[in-house]
Amino acid sequence: MVDPYLESALHIPDNIQALISLGCGAGEKEISIIKELNTSVVFIPTDISMPLVLTAAKNAASCDIKTGVPLVFDLANDSNLDDFLRKQFKANRLFTCFGILPNFAPADILPQIYRLINGSDLLLLSANLAPSGIESILPQYDNNLTKIWLGQLLVDNAVYGGKIDVRAIETDLHHWIQADYIFESDIEIKISGETISFNVGEKLELFVSYRYTLQSLESTLNGFGIQIENSFISENGEEGVFLCSTQ
Ligand SMILES: C[S@@+](CC[C@H](N)C(=O)[O-])C[C@H]1O[C@@H](n2cnc3c(N)ncnc32)[C@H](O)[C@@H]1O
Repeated sequence: MVDPYLESALHIPDNIQALISLGCGAGEKEISIIKELNTSVVFIPTDISMPLVLTAAKNAASCDIKTGVPLVFDLANDSNLDDFLRKQFKANRLFTCFGILPNFAPADILPQIYRLINGSDLLLLSANLAPSGIESILPQYDNNLTKIWLGQLLVDNAVYGGKIDVRAIETDLHHWIQADYIFESDIEIKISGETISFNVGEKLELFVSYRYTLQSLESTLNGFGIQIENSFISENGEEGVFLCSTQ
């Protein structure tokens, strides 16, 4: 079976000095890619979650991978990330961004990613694909088990009496699966000491998963100044890894 992540590693140039993972999770994919490289790179794990960057750093260290200081930031909202990262490594950086694109509207995340990448840098990005259309993957999300998982946040905050609506949304530009909680009574919820009021009929977005075709991904990325240089697609066609530049 062809692994698009490992396949992509064969196309990463030898002059890359640092691999900066955006939203690293536990860093498994980056670690397996670094092991395939012919060159030595410094791994910089970054994520919004402190426990996850620490786990990724620990996992990399246990594989003898040289690891820089793990960084915690909100990729979607923090500014000055570019200045900060450039002080550590000036050029020839490979940014990886795996599992992030599905959960953001493109305009909310791609400008942030674009700002980080400069002339000699590369971006390795994963995307979820829907080669047979978004409706065909709806059953993967519109089922009881997924609704129980999605509803956990509500159960944890003692919110009951509404319903979870999962549907496929298609616009001219983008296709995605969206799950909303629909309130069926007026309610006040206390989260982290803050009280939020919802009225009957209001919706709370729980989840989105953006899906692309190869064409829609290419035109979406191009719209934000990012070009695909090479594509690596899983056998079932539902996951792709894309080596990109901003030149
Ligand atoms: C679906 S997981 C993917 C993890 C890993 N990259 C992988 O492919 O296995 C998404 C990751 O992005 C991180 N994340 C989500 N929102 C983020 C944000 N705004 N800024 C930085 N990281 C974020 C999560 O904490 C999580 O580790």
